[in-house]
Amino acid sequence: MTAAGETLHPYPHLADALEGGTLLDTRIQARPNFYYRELRSRDPVHYDPQLNMWLVSRHEDLQTVTQDPITFSSERGYTAQMANGFQEEFQAILREHGGGFFPDAIKTDPPYHTRIRKLMDSAFTAHRVKELDPRITAVVQDVVAAVAPLGTADGVRQIAAPITIRFICEQLGLGEVDGQTIIDWSYAVVAQQSRMQSQDDMVANAMKIADLQQFLIAQIHDRQANRREDMISDLVHARLDDGDVLNFAEAVSLVRALLIAGNETTATAISHLLVLLATRRDVADELYANRDDDRWLNRFVEELLRWEPPSRGLTRMTTREVELGGKLLPEGAHLLLLWASGNDTESVFPDARRFDMTRDNLGRHLSFGAGAHRCVGAALARMEIKLTAREIVRQLNDIRLLVPVDEIRFVPTIATHPIAELPLAFRAR
Ligand code: HEM
Repeated sequence: MTAAGETLHPYPHLADALEGGTLLDTRIQARPNFYYRELRSRDPVHYDPQLNMWLVSRHEDLQTVTQDPITFSSERGYTAQMANGFQEEFQAILREHGGGFFPDAIKTDPPYHTRIRKLMDSAFTAHRVKELDPRITAVVQDVVAAVAPLGTADGVRQIAAPITIRFICEQLGLGEVDGQTIIDWSYAVVAQQSRMQSQDDMVANAMKIADLQQFLIAQIHDRQANRREDMISDLVHARLDDGDVLNFAEAVSLVRALLIAGNETTATAISHLLVLLATRRDVADELYANRDDDRWLNRFVEELLRWEPPSRGLTRMTTREVELGGKLLPEGAHLLLLWASGNDTESVFPDARRFDMTRDNLGRHLSFGAGAHRCVGAALARMEIKLTAREIVRQLNDIRLLVPVDEIRFVPTIATHPIAELPLAFRAR
């Protein structure tokens, strides 16, 4: 039996995918591995005319880009992609309804980025994340216990999303926020990088982001007046290296990044974990047998992340003419970094579509990016996925998909790989 993502080529009429295809095709987005393979073997730095972007598909070229954040600018890449061509209207809506337009302070370039990044790193050291183990466990136990007696559930809305949302809201000090509202806010923010939204979608999403910002602004004002034991307080009162504090726009953008960045991605990883358990009896059996072996679980999580990376295509823009993968790119070339294709690169991960925890280089996957912008929340995400995997097999048995694996629907976006709905059946243990 195959699991989602292993299907190599579900669309025979796209055999000549590079000529006719584009990553804007939702069928390619849903099951893209055959397309990645074509890119790597035939045109590893490929210009997609419909996207007006260069698709970077090989592990080695992705490494080159991430190691040089000055030539390959994150700030210019993200800004050009934001709002899918409706930038001015998008910003105007946020100024009018959302308390302001707050550009992302972390999607910037050194030296400014380095200053902000140090602060973010200090919130997520491996040591601090380890201390969160009991809190994550409590949230995970609670969420899984709520669905266990039901026998069926939507794996995204009733398991994966509530786990990541409840935990990050608790850490930020946001209290009990309605989960569906956070899901809507997250999709609205992530849609700005999706390249799939129409003008009407953009307006609807901008209004949701305006709501989100109003909510966060109230929280930040509150912490400025009353410091508490939570992450918003830590950020608002933190001293940067030069002794300064964050300005208001930076604070709003970073709290927004923390709420959103880790929530959809980690939920997607947990959704793919559920698909794997439901479709691969052999892997599920091994997980049931090894659930209390911490080192085994760490390897399991790493291979899961390599095999089905939640983050698919993030962006950069060249600040000068530069050669990449044999192509001469002009200044201003807009790149899409295909992390998942990097993870499929056979010279690094032989038989890459095989789920294989015995690889001796598991840690070389690019699912958290690399270099200066490597994921701030990697340790936290790993911990959340690991504790969820353990708890799911402690509480649930015989997990099954209620739709054929090839009919799993994905949210249309070039940036990530979220599953839209995941109907599951199981038995409580
Ligand atoms: C499985 C879950 C996750 C995945 C797959 C993931 C993936 C990524 C990737 C690929 C990047 C690199 C972006 C780039 O190079 O442009 C990134 C950056 C980032 N991630 Fe994550 N992430 C996850 C979880 C989290 C969590 C839990 C948080 C925090 C709560 C977080 C916060 C961030 C932030 C703030 C950045 C920007 C870092 C920078 O530009 O310096 N992520 N993430």
